[in-house]
Order: sequence, then structure tokens, then C-alpha cells
Amino acid sequence: MPKLVDSVKEVFNKNGIYAVATASASGLPNVVPIHFAKIYEEEEDTILLADNFMDKSYKNIEENPWIAISVWDTGKKLAYQIKGQASIVKSGKAFDDALAWVQKVKPDLKPKSAVLLKVTNVYNCQPGPDLGKEL
Ligand SMILES: Cc1cc2nc3c(=O)[nH]c(=O)nc-3n(C[C@H](O)[C@H](O)[C@H](O)COP(=O)(O)O)c2cc1C
Repeated sequence: MPKLVDSVKEVFNKNGIYAVATASASGLPNVVPIHFAKIYEEEEDTILLADNFMDKSYKNIEENPWIAISVWDTGKKLAYQIKGQASIVKSGKAFDDALAWVQKVKPDLKPKSAVLLKVTNVYNCQPGPDLGKEL
């Protein structure tokens, strides 16, 4: 069963800035706003993030691959927590795709790496009868 089902993709695609949480090996949390995050349709259940400025986030992913992203649509009253394991890539198709995507939007920016997030769990985050349930 895919994790990034259509309702999750729709809410994800409506968000322009993503709250992206990482944690150090010892469990110290870190959350940052990220603009360059999108569903990576080339691979199932995968989100591509462009690392333009990541520092603590980058170090955290190196030592602990777990990432959580929060997305919501207040109009439709839908919200999800997306969790998975990430890898950092500095060459190959995903990196080239991230580079082309960032430079199309911001020609002066050059991503240092791409972060490929393989989604493993999605939870309902909207208050209501299904709050907290895994999809
Ligand atoms: C609105 C906004 C959008 C941002 N988008 C990105 C992004 O797409 N990629 C990125 O690497 N950093 C982005 N940043 C910077 C990160 O939020 C953060 O400052 C950076 O990762 C360094 O923090 P860290 O040391 O906790 O990783 C953005 C910052 C803001 C305020």
C-alpha cells in the first residue's frame, strides 16, 4: 500500500513552506522551514528536498536518517504527519533534478545536496475522530 495517497499529496502540494524536523543521534530535535520540498514522482513514496542551507539538519540526517514533516490545509481541515528515513545524495538523477528545480526558481542558488526521504508512516494530524491514526 502506498503511503503518499492522493489526499496526502493534495495537502502536501498546497503547502509552500514545510516544517521539516530532524533529530541528532542523541535525540535532540531540530525543525526548520523548507521551501524546496516536493513529492518526487520518479520514486514511490518519496519526497525530494533541496539542501541549500542545511547545517544542523544535514548533520542530523547524517547521523540519524529519521525525518518528520508536518503539512496541513486549514480550509479543508486536513493535516498529516509524514515520517520516513532520508539519504543525502550529491550526484545522480535525484541530485540533478534538485539542482534543475532550484535553479529554475532561483538561478543564483546552488543546492549542496539533495535529500531523498523515503516515507514509511503517515498519520492523521487533524483534530477529529481519526486524530493520531496511521493511514
Ligand atoms: C521561508 C524559508 C524557506 C527555506 N527554505 C529552505 C530550503 O528550501 N532549503 C534549505 O536548505 N534551507 C531552507 N531554508 C533555511 C532553513 O530553514 C534553515 O535556516 C537551514 O536549514 C539552517 O538551519 P539548520 O542548521 O537547523 O539546518 C529556508 C528558510 C526559510 C526562512
